[in-house]
Amino acid sequence: MSGLIPQRFIDDLLSRVDIVDVVDSRVKLRKTGKNYAGLCPFHQEKSPSFTVNPEKQFYYCFGCGAGGNAIGFVMNFDSLDFVGSIEALAKDAGIEVPREDSPQARQQSSRFEAMLALLKQTSEFYQLQLRQHPQKERAVAYLKGRGLSGAIARDFGLGYAPPGWDNVLKQFGNDEKTQRMLFEAGLLVERSPEKLAESDGKRSPYYDRFRDRIMYPIRDTRGRVIGFGGRVLGDDKPKYLNSPETPVFHKGEELYGLYEAKQKLKKPERFVIVEGYMDVIALAQSGIHYCVATLGTATSSAHLRTLFKQVPEVVFCFDGDNAGREAAWRALQQALPLLEDGRSARFLFLPEGEDPDTQVRRIGAAAFEAALASATRLPEFFFDTLLAKVDRNSMEGRAQLGKNALPLLDKLPKGIFRQLMLEELAKITGVAASTLAPASSPGQAKSPAPDAPPQARPSPYPMRGKSAPGRIKVENSPCLRAVSLLIRKPAILTSVAAPDELGEIRSPDMDLLLKVIEIARAWPDSTPPELMSRIYATAYGAQMTQLLSREQITPETGIEEEFRDIIHTLLDQYRQHQQRASLLNKLRQSHAARQSPPDAGQATDI
Ligand code: UTP
Ligand code: MN
Repeated sequence: MSGLIPQRFIDDLLSRVDIVDVVDSRVKLRKTGKNYAGLCPFHQEKSPSFTVNPEKQFYYCFGCGAGGNAIGFVMNFDSLDFVGSIEALAKDAGIEVPREDSPQARQQSSRFEAMLALLKQTSEFYQLQLRQHPQKERAVAYLKGRGLSGAIARDFGLGYAPPGWDNVLKQFGNDEKTQRMLFEAGLLVERSPEKLAESDGKRSPYYDRFRDRIMYPIRDTRGRVIGFGGRVLGDDKPKYLNSPETPVFHKGEELYGLYEAKQKLKKPERFVIVEGYMDVIALAQSGIHYCVATLGTATSSAHLRTLFKQVPEVVFCFDGDNAGREAAWRALQQALPLLEDGRSARFLFLPEGEDPDTQVRRIGAAAFEAALASATRLPEFFFDTLLAKVDRNSMEGRAQLGKNALPLLDKLPKGIFRQLMLEELAKITGVAASTLAPASSPGQAKSPAPDAPPQARPSPYPMRGKSAPGRIKVENSPCLRAVSLLIRKPAILTSVAAPDELGEIRSPDMDLLLKVIEIARAWPDSTPPELMSRIYATAYGAQMTQLLSREQITPETGIEEEFRDIIHTLLDQYRQHQQRASLLNKLRQSHAARQSPPDAGQATDI
């Protein structure tokens, strides 16, 4: 990163380029009333549902929901990152991209750079300890015991955090400022004020997070170390310790092993998602280089978008036990909206007690790859799972199946695959596909006229109220309202607290709101278009289109008050809900106690 691109420039660039020209030079458009229409380049279709709105300078596809501004379009169409897309647009417009000169932006970018530099140095330090530390033998023996070669340890940059509370602190924390940054990078932990007071100021306010652990650096797609996973050498708990969320490390978006895979394979045909660091490494050592792991989180839609941008097929690898099947079902739900024609998802269930690491060592790479190639296809897993819950020989059972399947199938983008899945459901239930089809399916409802406001994308969160299944009504989404206010005035975050607790709340579009809060915090001085450009650079771009697509009559005054009200209401509702839940729990316990024999326990008074 050689300086950020000034926000002013991005703003200016967006006002100079016309999205119609940008799109038209890549996709053939024709004029339809006020808008332009064409065949969507982001999914396969025969009749045009892709529109470009010159007035609002955005594109939207009624078929697959893709949408965004000129920067987002070039990012998706040309497979570029945010900066690359701006550079491409600027080049076409014949202007040069300046680099940021404001002291604040310089500070921001130098803070990121300094943090990345510290993470890199620390990773090198850990690697060195694996070769030099007096106690390195234990770590080396551990890795050898797990069958890892020196070459694979090098490829994945494995290291060793030696025992002791201040190795990293002493090595790099020369001054208070650097110590603070090591803390912010997740490498140090802060001592509690009580502990610090006890030591009469003799102790440092920080200590090393990772001690006596094998260190796995987590790298971004450019190969920069952004965090670590650390594994104990024995059976202590926790087995793995991971870096916390930091300004450069966002667990929900990163995939372990993606950079290493891309180093080995120019064009992989598929990616396999496994659960553990060790699984990725063992598979790579066996020659299967196209495996990635989520970082102790469930597979997110952001993860899948990243992978589907590069390969047409994703294989999920899970344990064959119940927990594995449940995790697979959650992954399936994340995958559905992304399954355009040409893409596929499969599920590989391993025998009980095996994980990919042990399995590939047991059966060998060839057998493992054969298992991957013939893994259960999504349609099979989908219908088998739903059929297991009902009696398909009864009419009621088949009705229940239809009821369970339809809202899920409605998540599929328009296309032949969607149609085939509906036909399969029709075959099983005996109800004609045309009768079954959800209202929004092709052929059933007319697709909306290009001038009509685009329908909102289905939200992963359940909605209260009477909206059609899977559809969001913007008025009902306090989070979207909060987002629109925040875009208007990102600086409100300096006076309105948005506590981390928000992340616990399940409300429509909460994920978008959290992302916008994060971006607004990082760039509090942005203008609305600048902030939106930043959001388009994330996986949340399409959701943003909902906001752009309707006139948000946002008052010039009272923005801060309204935003504060929304946040407070959300938090209040959440806390009340928590209280009710705990009360219910108590009631249940006391009920259970009353039901059991008198000596089994006393009923709780409430
Ligand atoms: P596993 O326990 O399956 O990990 O957890 P693994 O990779 O197979 O571990 P070993 O080394 O072979 O025993 C899967 C993933 O869940 C996260 C880690 O990302 C791990 O790779 N995890 C697990 C944690 O974050 N913390 C833990 O304590 C355990
Ligand atoms: Mn394992």
